[in-house]
Amino acid sequence: MFKRIAVMTSGGDAPGMNAAVRAVVRAALDRGVEVYGIRQAYAGLLAGNMELLTSREVSGIIQRGGTILQTARNEEFKTKAGQSRAKRNLHQRGIEAVVVIGGDGSLRGALALECLGFPVIGVPASIDNDINGTNMSIGVDTALNVIMDALDRIRDTATSHTRAFIIEVMGRNCGYLAITAALIGGAEIVITPEQHVPMEEVAQALSNAYSRGKSHAIAVIAEGASYRTADLSNYLTNERSVGFEIRLIILGHIVRGGSPTAFDRLLATRMGVKAVELLLDGQTGLMVGLDGRDMVGIPIKDATGTMRPLNESFFAMHNFLSR
Ligand code: ADP
Ligand code: F6P
Repeated sequence: MFKRIAVMTSGGDAPGMNAAVRAVVRAALDRGVEVYGIRQAYAGLLAGNMELLTSREVSGIIQRGGTILQTARNEEFKTKAGQSRAKRNLHQRGIEAVVVIGGDGSLRGALALECLGFPVIGVPASIDNDINGTNMSIGVDTALNVIMDALDRIRDTATSHTRAFIIEVMGRNCGYLAITAALIGGAEIVITPEQHVPMEEVAQALSNAYSRGKSHAIAVIAEGASYRTADLSNYLTNERSVGFEIRLIILGHIVRGGSPTAFDRLLATRMGVKAVELLLDGQTGLMVGLDGRDMVGIPIKDATGTMRPLNESFFAMHNFLSR
């Protein structure tokens, strides 16, 4: 079986990536396998930026946000020439397999290596929760907790001033963070890429909240919505009176930072260990997924083929809970 593998974190960083790296390194060392850490994702792989990780190098990182291996986005790796060079760099160091911890794009990159005959296992890590084949990706729970905390704080000040806040959250093309935040943060209205809401309808929801005597209102908008958050804010401020004074907040990268929650640490730990187990079991081209209470391996091509759909019942619930 393998004597030397590598691990990397790629795409947008997600809280819990470090916990996953630690789990991969220690699970592998426990089975007599050496682990190289590739720095700065596919860019580092192409530059040969990798070094042996010992158990000590992954000490004291389980609670740290971001990624000690750093991450990057890289266009060259999307080309066949880049992928072949990456494979050569791995062979040159005697690395026989790689664990890729990252989002949808990073997993597509892993699949490209697998197509060249290089063994890979993927671990889903992205705050967006847009990856199919797993109930949750690493980082989602922490991001949701940050958003929830922000919404609670914003409501305090909104109530004091009788204001409505438009709050934009990340998620790229996926509305998971937005709809879930709306449910757990008690937002009056939510706008996602999956469910278009005309600006007039947003205005109506806020105006209804005002008429019902609410002292605050919150509209959560996903960054991937069909109109820009600034345009919505402008509409509600200048073109349509809803009773409340309007304020706009873009939470942006704040949501991606911070110490991973207990859920994310455990998820990342279990996923990292499972990745090593799958590799040592001779499996390749799989992504680790959380299925119910179990860790499973599913083909990366199935996980990356389509975006994880939202649970329709979340919208139905939000409809009557927001009144
Ligand atoms: P995430 O992994 O968070 O979704 P990206 O979509 O930016 O982030 O992907 C991260 C990196 O993965 C890209 O910069 C690129 O190097 C690599 N990648 C993305 N898509 C592909 C692809 N189709 N083939 C090969 N590599 C890819
Ligand atoms: O995929 C994670 C994510 O945070 C998305 O929610 C967001 O659209 C994107 O990354 C932002 O990327 P960057 O950090 O390159 O601005």
